[in-house]
Amino acid sequence: MSDHEYTPKSKLGKWFNDRLPLLTLSNHLQEYPTPKNLNYWWTFGGILTFCLITQIVTGLILAMHYVASADLAFGSVEHIMRDVNYGWLMRYVHANGASMFFLAVYIHIFRSLYYGSYKSPREVIWIIGMIIYFLMMATAFMGYVLPWGQMSFWGATVITNLFSAIPIVGESVTNWLWGGYAVDNPTLTRFYSLHYLFPFLIFGLVILHIWALHIPGNNNPIGIDIKKPSKDTVPFHPYIVIKDLFALLIFLIVFAFFVFYSPNILGHADNYIEANPLVTPSHIVPEWYLLPFYAILRSVPDKLFGVIAMFAAIFVLVILPWLDTSKVRSAVFRPLYKQFYWFLVADVLILGYVGAMPAEGLYLLVARIATAYYFIHFLVILPILGAKEKTLDIPMSLTEPVLGGSPKEAMVKKNKEI
Ligand code: HEM
Repeated sequence: MSDHEYTPKSKLGKWFNDRLPLLTLSNHLQEYPTPKNLNYWWTFGGILTFCLITQIVTGLILAMHYVASADLAFGSVEHIMRDVNYGWLMRYVHANGASMFFLAVYIHIFRSLYYGSYKSPREVIWIIGMIIYFLMMATAFMGYVLPWGQMSFWGATVITNLFSAIPIVGESVTNWLWGGYAVDNPTLTRFYSLHYLFPFLIFGLVILHIWALHIPGNNNPIGIDIKKPSKDTVPFHPYIVIKDLFALLIFLIVFAFFVFYSPNILGHADNYIEANPLVTPSHIVPEWYLLPFYAILRSVPDKLFGVIAMFAAIFVLVILPWLDTSKVRSAVFRPLYKQFYWFLVADVLILGYVGAMPAEGLYLLVARIATAYYFIHFLVILPILGAKEKTLDIPMSLTEPVLGGSPKEAMVKKNKEI
């Protein structure tokens, strides 16, 4: 027990803490031994926590003024923008906050892919993360419907219609989702209800995510197992806290740029036109963060198989810890994987781009090739690399390559031993 460790002084505090050690939980969080070589890509977990809280707080305030009714929703959002004190700020922070949240989660996921953070013993952290990601997509999709603009209405129509591809029961399922025979008031009210609920489910899952992280501890850029606490770790407070806060500050500057200088650039102009079931926009597109999946959906000519491909694209990520069979975690020691990693990044960016374009001609061809490559990466390339790739030698500890004499001496641990 260190000098600055907190213990409850009052009788009541002691009594309570013996029964539920909530008051001394901060000791664990402060001292949590963290690898000392974590880089800035590891600050995005904290940034994501900030994003979630921001969405909940601004969402609660918006909910005080928003009216979930097909006749009044659009007008109530304009009322928030024009009449409510700082309503414009709450709305712009919430709408751009969703984009910033996805930006951060994509960096967080691709960080995990590069450094192999999803591998044993962190599979459960990864799977909880995937559930969070899925719920985030559902929450964002339903949130986008709430202003009841043209893109809200038609986006909801396109996506909910996908369920009609299910054989036999498809139509009944779609009607059940809509609460009627088209996207209308019952659809809006249930989406509002779920859009309010899901962030709290995500919040609960984030607690499990971090709990599961604190069992094995953090992975690190070198990807080796380390002793905790040891020369290779620093206490979470103040070292990681201050680094996370600095990263958050930089992130906030980018966030503020969008909110104050370009608040509508990530949105779609059509959503400033009230929903009209009689006028279909010429080009229906989801928000940028859903575009790669939209591209996969449209690249398959058959509706049912398109839907299956879209869900399969998420499912291959869920089972990734078992598809990537390499014993070496970090791409730093995997020369071939490192290259394929960057191909995958390019592939997802291409999918995002073609997802925003009309599904025809060259765009469609590119979408099909990029979709095929996405699945080949996970289902073919990763298992083959796991068996065949010649990986580099791995250091024994984090400090040894830096302090441990000749680099040759330090690099003695053979790949298969980790
Ligand atoms: C609301 C969303 C999320 C929050 C608040 C969150 C929070 C965190 C935090 C605080 C950490 C520790 C610091 C760090 O590694 O950055 C972490 C680690 C991790 N997260 Fe997330 N996360 C979220 C979503 C996700 C998603 C969608 C995935 C992937 C599917 C994911 C996968 C991981 C993994 C594998 C680690 C362990 C990294 C390591 O040990 O190096 N997380 N998360």
